[in-house]
Amino acid sequence: MQNYAEAVQEFVENHATGLTAVILTGVGLLAFRRWMAGGVCRSEARLEGKTVLITGANTGIGKETAMDMAQRGARVILACRDMTKARLAADEIRQKSGNGNVTVKKLDLASLQSVRDLAKDVQQNEERLDILINNAGVMMCPKWKTEDGFEMQFGVNHLGHFLLTNCLLDLLKKSSPSRVVVVSSLAHTRGKIHFDDINLDKDYSPEKSYRQSKLANVLFARELAARLQGTGVTVYSLHPGVIRTELGRHLFQTWALWKRVLFSLLMFLVKNPWEGAQTTIYCAVDESAANQSGLYYSDCAPETPAPQALDDAAAKRLWDLSASMVGLV
Ligand SMILES: NC(=O)c1ccc[n+]([C@@H]2O[C@H](COP(=O)([O-])OP(=O)(O)OC[C@H]3O[C@@H](n4cnc5c(N)ncnc54)[C@H](OP(=O)(O)O)[C@@H]3O)[C@@H](O)[C@H]2O)c1
Ligand SMILES: *[C@@H]1O[C@H](CO)[C@@H](O)[C@H](O)[C@H]1NC(C)=O
Ligand SMILES: *[C@@H]1O[C@H](CO)[C@@H](O)[C@H](O)[C@H]1NC(C)=O
Repeated sequence: MQNYAEAVQEFVENHATGLTAVILTGVGLLAFRRWMAGGVCRSEARLEGKTVLITGANTGIGKETAMDMAQRGARVILACRDMTKARLAADEIRQKSGNGNVTVKKLDLASLQSVRDLAKDVQQNEERLDILINNAGVMMCPKWKTEDGFEMQFGVNHLGHFLLTNCLLDLLKKSSPSRVVVVSSLAHTRGKIHFDDINLDKDYSPEKSYRQSKLANVLFARELAARLQGTGVTVYSLHPGVIRTELGRHLFQTWALWKRVLFSLLMFLVKNPWEGAQTTIYCAVDESAANQSGLYYSDCAPETPAPQALDDAAAKRLWDLSASMVGLV
């Protein structure tokens, strides 16, 4: 025993610097991880008798959000493009939440026809819609087009949700107080709306397109909030954090092995999907946000977005352009 204690003491003395470095690194990583985890929605609001529709709810933060809504007692509609994945997610959510009122509906945001079909189904078959969560998204894909010929990221992240929301407004108003939650991203801060080349036909870059689409999300929420003043429908946009989900799938594919390995290791430091869903959940249910509309959130608190996301003239211009692109008006 004596020898053992002495050996340990000697080791510590001889390796003091190294050990200190290891401990500090460990504490630093833990603190960083804790900081990354961000805010948590503390609201205990229940949603019995309420209906929530979430786009892209088969995986990532959309699925975590759906789980939370089901645990609060809501009727939850998972609006997804892949019905096999959607049914598997719904089964898991029903089982874990003990709420049987979880259903799936087909929605491909890259097709205006699909958006209209889903909206019609909801209008005809649902009595109410209390919370609409525009969560689905595609990030940094190659230069793809939607069924209607729009650039994919702008088409799915913004235009599809723009049409969907507009088609569901009457039901949302009828169910008020109700909420529309738009999942944007910090990426909007480096974004610009390219009004003269909205589909980026002339100069496509995956980053530029993603940033434009996420800026469009914030501008859309702002303009929608202004249009819905006094209706009892409130609107929220948000940055969910940096989260371990499938969002990086297109980016990942193009990378060398070492980059992918490093990226996978770093992914353990960022938010998990449960943590990543907290700000969406906050915007959807928290009592303290009930009378706020048109603001942008991060880590379960309002935050000032980038200056170009506060440009009301651009928000109006984007609204008009979007309306004409999707054939509203
Ligand atoms: N992860 C992050 O670090 C991060 C950071 C900032 C913002 N966000 C935002 O958070 C949202 C959710 O992303 P996530 O991280 O959870 O990513 P994810 O795991 O890739 O989930 C994205 C969801 O969107 C769906 N989707 C994609 N294209 C669609 C289409 N054409 N029609 C219908 N659904 C479609 C996907 O369906 P499939 O499974 O069928 O592909 C999936 O359900 C996105 O709006 C994203 O921009 C994420
Ligand atoms: C499902 O939820 C809706 C909306 O809250 C409610 O009207 C309906 O009765 C519920 N159905 C079941 C089977 O619980
Ligand atoms: C929101 O506004 C309504 C009506 O003015 C009021 O009754 C309610 O207390 C407010 N809620 C919060 C959380 O401020």
